[in-house]
Amino acid sequence: MCGIIARIGSDDAADTLLTGLENLEYRGYDSAGIAVQNGSGVKVHKTSGEVSDLKSKLNYLPTGNVGIGHTRWSTHGPPTEENAHPHTDSAGDVAVVHNGVIDNYAELRTELAEKGHVFRSDTDTEVIPHLINEYREELPTEAAVRKAVETLEGSYAIAAIVEDEDRVYAARKGSPLVLGLGTDDWFLASDVPAFLDYTDEVIYLEDGDVVVLEPDAYEITDLEGEPVHRETDTVDWDPEDAGKGEYAHYMKKEIHGQPTSLANTIEGRVEDGEVDLESLPAGSFTDVDEVQFVACGTSYHAALYGAQLLKASGIRTEVIRASEYDSASGPVDEGTLTIAVTQSGETADTLQAVRKAAERGARTLAVTNVVGSTIARESDDAMYIRAGPEVGVAATKTFSSQAVSLALVSQRLAADVPHADQVDDVEAMLESLTDLPEQVEEILETTDAERLAKQYIDSDAFFFIGNGLGHPVALEGALKFKEITYEHAEGFASGQLKHGPLALVTERTPVFAVCTGGDDGKTKTNAIEAQTRGASIVAVSPDDHPVVDAAEAHLSVPDTHPVWAGLLANVQLQLVSYYAADLLDRPIDKPRNLAKSVTVE
Ligand code: F6R
Repeated sequence: MCGIIARIGSDDAADTLLTGLENLEYRGYDSAGIAVQNGSGVKVHKTSGEVSDLKSKLNYLPTGNVGIGHTRWSTHGPPTEENAHPHTDSAGDVAVVHNGVIDNYAELRTELAEKGHVFRSDTDTEVIPHLINEYREELPTEAAVRKAVETLEGSYAIAAIVEDEDRVYAARKGSPLVLGLGTDDWFLASDVPAFLDYTDEVIYLEDGDVVVLEPDAYEITDLEGEPVHRETDTVDWDPEDAGKGEYAHYMKKEIHGQPTSLANTIEGRVEDGEVDLESLPAGSFTDVDEVQFVACGTSYHAALYGAQLLKASGIRTEVIRASEYDSASGPVDEGTLTIAVTQSGETADTLQAVRKAAERGARTLAVTNVVGSTIARESDDAMYIRAGPEVGVAATKTFSSQAVSLALVSQRLAADVPHADQVDDVEAMLESLTDLPEQVEEILETTDAERLAKQYIDSDAFFFIGNGLGHPVALEGALKFKEITYEHAEGFASGQLKHGPLALVTERTPVFAVCTGGDDGKTKTNAIEAQTRGASIVAVSPDDHPVVDAAEAHLSVPDTHPVWAGLLANVQLQLVSYYAADLLDRPIDKPRNLAKSVTVE
């Protein structure tokens, strides 16, 4: 939800800011802007649209060694040029970029307007430069920034530049901000890919941190101005990982990256038929009585997958959409383990659910892709899924790595929780896991998804059904399809089709029947009920599955243990969505109205 970047060095900042914004566009892409300071005031350039629109609009690269930039996902006000960041005070002396939501902006705006400040946008952000400017009348800039930040209620990561000052001022509370330590320059950004081309040395800032960057120094303090020490980390993502490479879209690159991402997820975690999780050694969960998963969207589907495996070992388990936590959570106490499943580690709904669970006494575990993310830092433990950077807004490789990670965590739980039973064939299951990356490769080389997408592209709607572990796969197949094609797609537990949705079925509504475990007989029967009403069945199953004979089309799933078969089926469905969206000429990596990291509730 909005990407921010700041850069200070000895040479011009604009080029680096624009490249950084392109790498952050997955966080929002409805308007963009930069501001630079070059000793003759602050110059702001912004536009509605994407970073490419901003670049086309700039006839020249503005000069100045200190700069900030922003790419927006609108919350307050439509995506117009006026609402694009950076925002300035009335005189244009202070420019600010902001990620987050200022809850008390309406009161602050009224107070500032009464004092003569002139507002030009509908945004909550605009109060920040006006506040800084107001306080600068009596205080040095750094103290004015600190006072402004203390006045704000809500969440923010902000970066500000000020006329004629060779400095960037920044602060964070509730929205991510990372400091990048280059050789000749410093960076601040919402996420590491913004500056990965220049440095892999980073400091993850924490809530309450205030940062001042100068060309040859930086200082991190708390709100009172006391210096604070933060560890420096080295990120192990390759800059190559952040680009599209030979692929037309990040999504395709990321689908095709799954043999590697899955191998990384598994590496060193399965030894001699046993699970070995570095951050969660044997005995980690002996105090756990029950487990609740909290997650949103695709991560929720991964959680449904993991929860089924956990239930099989007799552990009481609930899966809660994080935004529904208040009404959906059962009793919580110190025997509850709350597992937050979130690729970004920043999703506001999930963060709030974790905080509420912790307040009620639960132990918390983050299963996430992003080291140092807010949910990882706030949880008692973290397990990283190691999928590498995912830029396409539609989650693909993170889903498969989440599901595998949760399967491994569920085995650790089954072994540790005193009243749990390990499933009978755990060794066979873990052994077949090591074949998963190769089997994904096989699908990528042999898939019929592109042809099928062409065959069915003119349909009125697309239904996805599955039972047991096939159910979350059906839900995820439909979510991916609607998200990037903008076509009507729904996923159902197969037995539910006849309880209402069947009314929508016609000869123009193909039904993708995921038969990869669970009661596939039920899925086949319900698919045939739809076929009787004219629908085509697309079987997503192993070649020898009986559903194939009944179906009009087939997406093949290599033979594997039933626990992993659904993940292979999901790769086929990712490919169908991708090719369908490509045929429809959709902006696959940046579907309308969406953003990769949703940091508002
Ligand atoms: C769909 C998608 C979203 C996210 C959801 C949660 O392709 O990516 O549904 O899964 O917004 O995001 P995280 O996993 O970052 O918490």
